[in-house]
Amino acid sequence: AVLRDLVGRRVVVTAGGTREAIDPVRFLANRSSGRQGVALAHAAAARGADVTLIAANVDLETPPGARRIDVESAAQLAAAVHEAAAAAPDLLIMAAAVADFTPASRAEAKIKKSGDDGAPALELVRTQDILRTLVSDRTALRDADPGAGTGLIVGFAAETGDASTSPLEHARAKARSKGADLLVLNDVSTGVFGAADNAVRILDAAGEIVAEAAGDKTVVSHTVLDEVVRRLAPVPWD
Ligand code: C5P
Repeated sequence: AVLRDLVGRRVVVTAGGTREAIDPVRFLANRSSGRQGVALAHAAAARGADVTLIAANVDLETPPGARRIDVESAAQLAAAVHEAAAAAPDLLIMAAAVADFTPASRAEAKIKKSGDDGAPALELVRTQDILRTLVSDRTALRDADPGAGTGLIVGFAAETGDASTSPLEHARAKARSKGADLLVLNDVSTGVFGAADNAVRILDAAGEIVAEAAGDKTVVSHTVLDEVVRRLAPVPWD
């Protein structure tokens, strides 16, 4: 039996990976399947939460009881998240892999090969960092009204590490700079995309590891939610 410790809580989860259109037939995408985000939405609903799943190109079933909003691009995801955030949910989990760059313009017609062997240059521009924007919006709310902006924000960090810096070091820096309450580090050097299993370390805003989980994405989801529950403000009495 699952503990019903999220009854009365409104939870928003993003899942999947965004697609940025180049022309009517092509897009830039990433390898996120949405499985971890959908597992989180499923686990939160099982624990009694009122769940909204914002799904970017997710080819998976909607968890029972969850409301689903489908989006494609980073801009659409941003719009859906900000609309959901305006209703002041208790928890927002950004599990989606959001494009950091999008084509500066979208060609109206399919880009054609010309006679020679030349190729077009693709100009990219930055997208909004939704997580960072959510955190700074929340800070502004708290500054205006100390009783406001009590919802928790959880981010994900898919890291591979490189020659000089480990995935954990990258994640620690990200935890401190993004300002989310929790950052779930996913070491993606081991091929977790689309897999049933995952291994994560959960960092707090100071970059300290507060929990670790490995196994089924459902098990990982419950560990993340356990850390969330510890940090949620108490449900006010009527
Ligand atoms: O900086 P990085 O993309 O690694 O951060 C990952 C976290 O930030 C994830 O929670 C992801 O959903 C979020 N993100 C975002 N907007 C972006 C890029 C990432 O909200 N444009």
